[in-house]
Amino acid sequence: MSWQEEIENILNKDPAAHNWLEVVLCYPGFHAVCIHRIAHWLWQRKLVVLARFLSHFTRLITGIEIHPGAKLGKRVFIDHGMGVVIGETAEIGDDVVLYQGVTLGGGAAARKGAQTRGTKRHPTVGCGVVVGSGAEIQGPIYVGNNVQVASGSIVLKDVPDNCVVVGVPGRVIYQNGQRIKEEVPDIEAEAIKSLKDHIVKLEAGFSKFMSQQEAPSPGYQDEPATKPACETNGSIDPVDMFLHGAGI
Ligand SMILES: CC(C)(COP(=O)(O)OP(=O)(O)OC[C@H]1O[C@@H](n2cnc3c(N)ncnc32)[C@H](O)[C@@H]1OP(=O)(O)O)[C@@H](O)C(=O)NCCC(=O)NCCS
Repeated sequence: MSWQEEIENILNKDPAAHNWLEVVLCYPGFHAVCIHRIAHWLWQRKLVVLARFLSHFTRLITGIEIHPGAKLGKRVFIDHGMGVVIGETAEIGDDVVLYQGVTLGGGAAARKGAQTRGTKRHPTVGCGVVVGSGAEIQGPIYVGNNVQVASGSIVLKDVPDNCVVVGVPGRVIYQNGQRIKEEVPDIEAEAIKSLKDHIVKLEAGFSKFMSQQEAPSPGYQDEPATKPACETNGSIDPVDMFLHGAGI
């Protein structure tokens, strides 16, 4: 992987980049990835402290912290970069884009400290993945090829290929271009539906009670004591409209 290819990649991916000199001088993601490749080379040769020091120096000048043990594929583009943290056992495929504030961090198990040294603690990210600003991917999980992680998401479980993941905790909302039905229920809509069901039952009971109490006079057609909750002067009940919109 040549520096020239890294520069071409940034020019292809970022509309804000106009020429190679601008990329060389003004792209912290470019600096961080290039220096990381040297630090990783040192790390592989057991020059641990020198590798860590180089990584630390890069963090000072770029705001991007890549542990020298992390494995980066080709054409990894860290856009803006400030606040990006990539852990020791993270692996990143080719053609990945990470925005500012992304963490590829250790999961809960990593908090056991020294016991987990030398074990896989950080995520593996497939090829063609985009991780939006501020998103976190935690633990030794696998994020498949061409996954898009929305900004601000926190991903804690494996994600299959070709998905869009959003939210906290991250959930798949698209797979292979198809919308996935939400597994998380709409609690507000469920509560409103439950209340409406209770009102309908009460109205029915009240109507029955009233009709038992008052026999209608011959020849006189009385109005029903109450109208069903869904009828509001001939117009569509807004509660029904709301529940329909929520898919209930
Ligand atoms: C997740 C992402 C990659 C998907 O992009 P996309 O495929 O073009 O699709 P969309 O933007 O249309 O979003 C797809 C769905 O995800 C939802 N979504 C997008 N970003 C979201 C977020 N941060 N949180 C929750 N939901 C989000 C959209 O509302 C949309 O839902 P819908 O289909 O129900 O309308 C993109 O939205 C994103 O977050 N990119 C990162 C951008 C970023 O970090 N920019 C920083 C630049 S400095």
